[in-house]
Amino acid sequence: MCGEYGNRLRKVVIDVQVRVCVIGAGAMANNVHYPSLAAMEDVEIVGACDLQEDKLEETCNRYSISGRFTDYRQMLEQLRPDAVYIIMPPHHLYDLTIDCLEMGLNVFIEKPPGITTHQVTWMAKYAQKNGVIGMVGWNRRFIPVVNYCREKVLSYNANVQQVVSTFYKYHPDSAGPYYRGAIDILSCDAVHAVDTLRWLAGGEVVNVASAVRKVHHEFDDSFTALVQFDNGCVGVLLANWRAGGRIHQFELHTNGASAFINGDYESVIHMNGESFVERLDSKEIAGSDEFYRYYGFFDENRHFIDCVKKGTEPDASFADAVKTMQLVDEIYRQSW
Ligand SMILES: NC(=O)c1ccc[n+]([C@@H]2O[C@H](COP(=O)([O-])OP(=O)(O)OC[C@H]3O[C@@H](n4cnc5c(N)ncnc54)[C@H](O)[C@@H]3O)[C@@H](O)[C@H]2O)c1
Repeated sequence: MCGEYGNRLRKVVIDVQVRVCVIGAGAMANNVHYPSLAAMEDVEIVGACDLQEDKLEETCNRYSISGRFTDYRQMLEQLRPDAVYIIMPPHHLYDLTIDCLEMGLNVFIEKPPGITTHQVTWMAKYAQKNGVIGMVGWNRRFIPVVNYCREKVLSYNANVQQVVSTFYKYHPDSAGPYYRGAIDILSCDAVHAVDTLRWLAGGEVVNVASAVRKVHHEFDDSFTALVQFDNGCVGVLLANWRAGGRIHQFELHTNGASAFINGDYESVIHMNGESFVERLDSKEIAGSDEFYRYYGFFDENRHFIDCVKKGTEPDASFADAVKTMQLVDEIYRQSW
């Protein structure tokens, strides 16, 4: 029965409202996902679930959600939504995700999609088996200024020669890797830079050379990689959790066009020598100074909902996320 339900969703275009349930009423859900979904006229948040009743009540009151549950299975069986968001730390994600896929539900999860490539591979298999959509919130792909720059550079020349993807933070001594050690820095958070590198390069990985180091912590905190792609692009990844502060930017170079992209602040496009230079403010391009808008969260949610309505595979599918996780593995494996 569950499989049938899923297959039906992939075929039918939902014309009117998309009925969504959200599991998790924590920080990310409240900061970016509930506000994004609440801003869409064609979405109704019919139910929310959290183990912590105070968070659940506060969130449901804020977004006028009538379906309130502490048991997600009960919520999903009772409300039968078109899609479900599961927004919680990666080491809590797997069983819930598989349960939802087995119930024939389209699923959106945050990054990282799991603790291991193995887990994400099986998430992708379950999504395919049940004929439903699985999407990972790689929000950097959806940041309006990132897309503006990418489209402008590629429209000048589509052959990407080089990509640089950087993510720096200043991580305190007292903090271990993420979630008390449940997951390492590269797989959990610097993975944003890994995914964006792949996405901007636009090819398949063929070779990796790397240096992973424990520079200022007893765990890996410094990541440098050179990645060769099958389309001729060479990518550079630089991530360091003991740098001067949070700096997260990308470079994209094609023949005669370059973009230096910073989704937090300002980006610059150079084309055709110095005859064209364009400076772009992230918030201006997004038309909003709301974080969930200018940092890509609204657009990733919009993409997911559109995919649910059309029954099409999202740009950031579970199957695609397996490739990002595999690149993380390869960066560790090839380190000298
Ligand atoms: N895209 C980004 O830039 C970005 C930024 C920060 C965090 N994240 C990701 O967002 C995810 C969520 O992080 P967070 O900080 O919001 O977590 P959080 O701990 O604040 O929220 C998780 C919530 O899930 C609830 N929960 C856990 N298990 C549950 C269950 N079985 N049923 C119902 N509720 C349950 C918890 O009670 C909690 O309220 C993480 O994977 C993190 O990596 C992404």
